[in-house]
Amino acid sequence: MRELSVVDPIGQNIVRLISNVCFSAFVLSVLIFTVIAITYQPPDPWESSRALTKVFTQVENATFKTDNSVLNTGEDISLTPSVPEGGSVSSVNQSIIEMPDEGNVTEKSGCADLSSVNCSDPKLLLAIKRFNFKAFKSIVFLDYQKPVNGSKPDECDVAWRFRNRKEKSWRKYRDFRRFKLGFKDDCSYKVIRPGRWHSGLNARRPSIQVVTPRNGQVVRNQPQIRDDEINDTIPVLGSDSSFRNGRYLYYSRGGDYCKGMNHYLWSFLCALGEARYLNRTFVMDLSICLASSHTLSNKDEEGKDFRFYFDFEHLKESSPIVEEGEFLRDWKRWETKHKSKIPVRKVSSYRVTPLQLKRDRSTIIWRQFDDAPEPENYWYRVCEGPAAKYVQRPWPALWKSKRLMNIVTAISGSMDWDFDAVHVVRGEKARNKLLWPNLDSDTSPDALAVKLQAAISLWRNLYVATNEPFYNYFDKLRSHYKVHLLDDFKSLWGNTSEWYNETALLNGGRPVDFDGYMRVEVDTEVLYRSKTRVETFYNLTRDCKDGINTC
Ligand SMILES: *[C@@H]1O[C@H](CO)[C@@H](O)[C@H](O)[C@H]1NC(C)=O
Ligand SMILES: *[C@@H]1O[C@H](CO)[C@@H](O)[C@H](O)[C@H]1NC(C)=O
Ligand SMILES: *[C@@H]1O[C@H](CO)[C@@H](O)[C@H](O)[C@H]1NC(C)=O
Ligand SMILES: *[C@@H]1O[C@H](CO)[C@@H](O)[C@H](O)[C@H]1NC(C)=O
Ligand SMILES: *[C@@H]1O[C@H](CO)[C@@H](O)[C@H](O)[C@H]1NC(C)=O
Ligand SMILES: *[C@@H]1O[C@H](CO)[C@@H](O)[C@H](O)[C@H]1NC(C)=O
Ligand SMILES: *[C@@H]1O[C@H](CO)[C@@H](O)[C@H](O)[C@H]1NC(C)=O
Ligand SMILES: *[C@@H]1O[C@H](CO)[C@@H](O)[C@H](O)[C@H]1NC(C)=O
Ligand SMILES: *[C@@H]1O[C@H](CO)[C@@H](O)[C@H](O)[C@H]1NC(C)=O
Ligand SMILES: *[C@@H]1O[C@H](CO)[C@@H](O)[C@H](O)[C@H]1NC(C)=O
Repeated sequence: MRELSVVDPIGQNIVRLISNVCFSAFVLSVLIFTVIAITYQPPDPWESSRALTKVFTQVENATFKTDNSVLNTGEDISLTPSVPEGGSVSSVNQSIIEMPDEGNVTEKSGCADLSSVNCSDPKLLLAIKRFNFKAFKSIVFLDYQKPVNGSKPDECDVAWRFRNRKEKSWRKYRDFRRFKLGFKDDCSYKVIRPGRWHSGLNARRPSIQVVTPRNGQVVRNQPQIRDDEINDTIPVLGSDSSFRNGRYLYYSRGGDYCKGMNHYLWSFLCALGEARYLNRTFVMDLSICLASSHTLSNKDEEGKDFRFYFDFEHLKESSPIVEEGEFLRDWKRWETKHKSKIPVRKVSSYRVTPLQLKRDRSTIIWRQFDDAPEPENYWYRVCEGPAAKYVQRPWPALWKSKRLMNIVTAISGSMDWDFDAVHVVRGEKARNKLLWPNLDSDTSPDALAVKLQAAISLWRNLYVATNEPFYNYFDKLRSHYKVHLLDDFKSLWGNTSEWYNETALLNGGRPVDFDGYMRVEVDTEVLYRSKTRVETFYNLTRDCKDGINTC
């Protein structure tokens, strides 16, 4: 060896030199790779808590929850109850039915026959009003209809409208229940038993709907009973000249398509915000694609109607919008009829800011997202940077679907609006020990049983809002509480439910799945109606909501 190095020192030096160069190159490449890894931002901000924090601290205030086990919308975020359309708070106040007067209630009703009641007797309605007032403290009764006969002589069906004290939108709902009535000793009426949510079928007003879907064929020709509190038909534009005189903002589909619901909302509200800023009618695609994470088939599913999830009626009342199909038809019709072109400004990059478009007088401003790669083609990029200062997302325009809210009301009502709730976040976060080291153990059945007993008294109704798929996971709590899970209320969206009928009607007669996003919406709203609420983050675990070191 020694001889060799003496004999050939140059050769050895060359070997050393080469290996040094190689090592340096290796170090350099590692360095470059590390730098790339550090500066690289994953394309989807919802999957990176770092990018997320940036989005919320620099672009917009964090009123928006990225936790995909809750979905907050306008009615959850607004700080004061919104005033109903066409009225002030005080005018609503006047129509609220306060505790009925005791005055003449005890006056004798002719109760010669104790086994039957007279549903048209005003005193009977008064007895029901008093009963409801005492039984359902958290709802405000707005108006009652005349009671009608139930199925037996001692039953009456009564319908009324109400609103929920916990709900910040001033939305009205309808209930109709079947009451079993009897007489007190002094012959005045008393309620023996109230019926379940929507049990008073005879009091439900039938409204005849003629169903004429797409191809003109009548899917069902028997009269449909619909919730007459909901009117989310697609608005029609009207005459030719009104089309030409309108101003539209049209977004073509971008990379947001088939992303999660939080991403959809963040993008959609950005677009709607830009339309408001530009004082233009937004051209809206009512068809949503659901990400595989929340579908029953575990594949992305296209063709979901916006109205399954959100309140389109409220949206069209609060923001000028036109449905894409209607819009394209009218556009084409106008150009064919007038043999000329409608002025269109095509915008192909989000870098063209809303401010730059403010002065554009074209009838249509068409933002095209088709060509750019992700994440350049996300709608919400329009609202980034300086635009965030003057384009505001119109959260109050977006409420949850009333059809889903009817389910929420039925669930809360079945617990007589007197329940506590715990929000248990598990799923992917519980599996990710790196970012949430304690979450899994802090939400284990034993830990839950111990922690909940400190916050909620024994044998209360306990609603568990959760993304834990295993139904029996919470069985340990059943020896302390009356536990309710969303799946206990399956019949509310099963094939004999109103929801099933109503959504099928929107869907051209085909049944609609009760998918993961609907579950999240219902869970969120039931959670918010509880009296005592225990949250996973802050109450059950000290892990941070967005992963380690983010709080
Ligand atoms: C955002 O937060 C800042 C500081 O907390 C506050 O001054 C500002 O009014 C907020 N903006 C909105 C739109 O809520
Ligand atoms: C609503 O009615 C209550 C009692 O009837 C009254 O005290 C309250 O001032 C009213 N509120 C408004 C806004 O009119
Ligand atoms: C009670 O009934 C009498 C007669 O039936 C009526 O004159 C009076 O106004 C009623 N009082 C109330 C408070 O309704
Ligand atoms: C039921 O009450 C209404 C209103 O008080 C009265 O007009 C009607 O005659 C009563 N019907 C019977 C069968 O008593
Ligand atoms: C309701 O029932 C009573 C008897 O219980 C009957 O006299 C009355 O005609 C019924 N009313 C209607 C509208 O069917
Ligand atoms: C539903 O709303 C539209 C306007 O958006 C209106 O033209 C239509 O008459 C309403 N339908 C019902 C049944 O109220
Ligand atoms: C917004 O547009 C409407 C009609 O399209 C017009 O009447 C109104 O003055 C515009 N408002 C502003 C602030 O430009
Ligand atoms: C509803 O679903 C059940 C079980 O999935 C099925 O047996 C029944 O036939 C269905 N009913 C209707 C009306 O589709
Ligand atoms: C749903 O529709 C079917 C057929 O149209 C009808 O028989 C059923 O009563 C409806 N169910 C509800 C709860 O409205
Ligand atoms: C949950 O934590 C929040 C914030 O620390 C606290 O205000 C609230 O009282 C806690 N709730 C319960 C039920 O312990």
